[in-house]
Amino acid sequence: MNGVPKHERLIAWVQEMADRCQPDQIYWCDGSKEEYDRLMAMMVTSGSAIPLKTRPNSFLFRSHPSDVARVEDRTYISTQKPDDAGPTNNWIDPGELREIMKKLYDGCMKGRTMYVIPFSMGPIGSPIAKIGIEITDSPYVVCNMHIMTRVGTRVLEVLGTEGEFIPCMHSVGAPLEPGDKDEAWPCAPMEKKYISHFPEENLIWSFGSGYGGNALLGKKCLALRIASAMAHREGWMAEHMLILRFTSPGGKRYHIAAAFPSACGKTNLAMLQPTVEGWTCETIGDDIAWMKIGPDGRLYAINPEAGFFGVAPGTSYDSNPMAMDSLHENIIFTNCALTDDGDVWWEDMDGDPPTHAIDWKGRDWTPESKDPGAHPNARFTAPASQCPCICEDWEKPEGVPIDIFIFGGRRTGVVPLVTEAFNWDHGVFLGATASSETTAANIGDIGTLRRDSFAMKPFCGYNMGDYFQHWLTMGDALGDKAPRIFYVNWFRRDSDGKFLWPGFGENSRVLKWMCERVDGKSGAYETPIGLLPEDGALDLKGLNVSPGIMQELLKIDEEAWKAEIPTIEKHFSQFGDRLPQRLKEQLDELRKRFGL
Ligand code: GTP
Ligand code: SPV
Ligand code: MN
Repeated sequence: MNGVPKHERLIAWVQEMADRCQPDQIYWCDGSKEEYDRLMAMMVTSGSAIPLKTRPNSFLFRSHPSDVARVEDRTYISTQKPDDAGPTNNWIDPGELREIMKKLYDGCMKGRTMYVIPFSMGPIGSPIAKIGIEITDSPYVVCNMHIMTRVGTRVLEVLGTEGEFIPCMHSVGAPLEPGDKDEAWPCAPMEKKYISHFPEENLIWSFGSGYGGNALLGKKCLALRIASAMAHREGWMAEHMLILRFTSPGGKRYHIAAAFPSACGKTNLAMLQPTVEGWTCETIGDDIAWMKIGPDGRLYAINPEAGFFGVAPGTSYDSNPMAMDSLHENIIFTNCALTDDGDVWWEDMDGDPPTHAIDWKGRDWTPESKDPGAHPNARFTAPASQCPCICEDWEKPEGVPIDIFIFGGRRTGVVPLVTEAFNWDHGVFLGATASSETTAANIGDIGTLRRDSFAMKPFCGYNMGDYFQHWLTMGDALGDKAPRIFYVNWFRRDSDGKFLWPGFGENSRVLKWMCERVDGKSGAYETPIGLLPEDGALDLKGLNVSPGIMQELLKIDEEAWKAEIPTIEKHFSQFGDRLPQRLKEQLDELRKRFGL
């Protein structure tokens, strides 16, 4: 075997998994370009990767039509006591879940190679970084992990002979008998998929899916579900947040971290091209933030990832030029359409749609087709270093100091463009009650309104009531150095279903107001739900939005808001006595402000 480390616990774990899964061979990944190229070439030969003619070293994959997104219904937080997973997570007893999954893992890698991927979340060797070892039978997963994390021999060097690592076990769950022809995208049926987390042991077991967050275990499984539980125990934060640097015309820097649910605008905001004059934006991360209180008492954030696993549909030079310019080479595309000249295409890309393409299912497609060419959750995997607006400090081990937190979601109505929290506890209340219409990033209903607290409902590795308390505790520790908290909604629509707010680069106008609020330079007035921009406080210079629409965007519809209160009560009631008293008080105060 190549590249085997001298770490007994690691070797024993890999051997135990190999004995169970019975792969044809074990391969230790070194993270090199040669390795990436070799695996890609193998997947081109087998027919699962399609090289693109227009983008060097870039490939299109088509998933199995059933395996297109995360599977929240099949995702488990397995703790000794069900209450420690809490009401927002699926729970199975750890002993029982292990037995179920051991049976599934038995012989599951027959006819395949078992890849062992040593990876670091966070810059290798940084005090904030965590090491994971992913075992997988999917070369697609290996190549994606090369881009999304820091993979390789250097990680094993840091691990040494006894270093701590988080074991991340993955199989697509499709063994091959001699003579079987492999599928282009092997996976298991829905009822056999399990995305399991054992936060009390820092352990991940995933079975049956090859897609995104189900299979690239460094991302949602490690950096959010396992890390959030570690952060709770150790006094830091692991959040579903983008991180950006917003710089004023005078050169003053503000660092902003924003939590929106999946497919609700994090990548886009992270790569914002401001339309407000003189302001600039640089990207630090687009999906996950790990934050610790620094020696100066402020909260410092790092992006633990090394790449972007971004939503393709809707990405264009018009909406997100920085993403488009990150995609010229070295990209893995999944479930996009393929044009006749050998490029990828998706809905709402710039210009006219192609007159003919092959859709994500491999069928002929024309603009007259009733189905979309790309799956709504089609994705690109891109190295963060290729983003033209990546911040020079994006890999700084100590991170950047956060000035502003933003929460939000996708709401057709009711929720205004922007609100500022009265104080930290009220901000935590805004995060805890965040609501959003569901998207194609999960397999399930789309467009259904739900409470997605802190955009963490699918990603919190412990009881969400305890998580709310953790936010309050962190606020107490930060005191007057705590970031200011805001809530936004870019997604209000008119009665014809058209977005009222132009969004994307224009969102810079809202960020500018936030920065001015931090500096005490801009006005706000009190409403029952929080502080809203005073007349004239939002910089709307050059913006083509009528005063009537602006009024609509910043309106508080009292009746509609009063109707929200019972749904907040219902949300909170799930947590029983794990709901912090301070959030009950926030709800009481909201009722009072509405005269209820
Ligand atoms: P995940 O990767 O799933 O966590 O998603 P994300 O939060 O990074 O969402 P992303 O930025 O990829 O945006 C998802 C979809 O929302 C894309 O189709 C975008 O075009 C669209 N979108 C993003 N920002 C805006 C906005 O300001 N206004 C409108 N109308 N749409 C937006
Ligand atoms: C999300 O769903 O929030 C994503 C995509 O970022 S995935 O990696 O599939 O979780
Ligand atoms: Mn995400």
